[in-house]
Amino acid sequence: MIAANWKMHKTVAEARAFLEAFLPLVKNPQGVEIAIAPPFTALPAVGEMLRGTGIALGAQNVFYEPQGAYTGEISPPMLKELGCRYVIVGHSERRQHFHEDDETIRKKLKAVFEHGLVPILCVGETLEERRAGQTEAVLERQLRAAVEGLSAEFVGELVIAYEPVWAIGTGETASPEDAEAGARFLRSRIHKLYGESIAERVRVQYGGSVKPENARSLMTENVDGALVGGASLDPEKFAAIVKEAAAATSSA
Ligand code: 13P
Repeated sequence: MIAANWKMHKTVAEARAFLEAFLPLVKNPQGVEIAIAPPFTALPAVGEMLRGTGIALGAQNVFYEPQGAYTGEISPPMLKELGCRYVIVGHSERRQHFHEDDETIRKKLKAVFEHGLVPILCVGETLEERRAGQTEAVLERQLRAAVEGLSAEFVGELVIAYEPVWAIGTGETASPEDAEAGARFLRSRIHKLYGESIAERVRVQYGGSVKPENARSLMTENVDGALVGGASLDPEKFAAIVKEAAAATSSA
């Protein structure tokens, strides 16, 4: 599964122009699910253009209440109405700039599932944490806190994006070994908490400076796809990443 996280990029007009260029490049990607998460303002237009293409629509964030006095927030039913299937939850930029904590992320995850949407839960360590040998402890804490109280049925649907913070937007990609180690560890924690069949169903993506040149090698045994920031803004580059993932899938 290759997902585009456009972050705070693209007006509606720019989003339309992207899809006009991108859609003809990705007819029939074998064995790869594609999702695009534009900013909220472009969701209706992108959703409309994606209809019938098999490409899923995603949002980058959500609030956990269905409605109420929460100025500036967007609820799960509002996203559902626009045809979203996925919602990115707990991205490191939300944790860092908007002070989202584990408890908030847990509430968001639960609300997303309860409204029939699928969360893409982002977890990952900072460079400081990695250097201090805390990578696994951080991943374990973030994952455990997020899924606490969730039913196995929901967890089986979950997409987890392993995004080492030091690899996001820096051009510094994790090595395939590091990506695999993180993904394997996350899957092993799901195994421990929910058993083998749920752990096998969970999809784990890698995110952090994924580009056409490194995408194929990052699709390791436990990595089922990528969450792409910068390179997903360019139709040719994003289509090339989809093709690399399709090639990795067919040769696996
Ligand atoms: P970049 O691909 O720009 O490093 O961003 C990764 C990311 O944060 C995806 O959610």
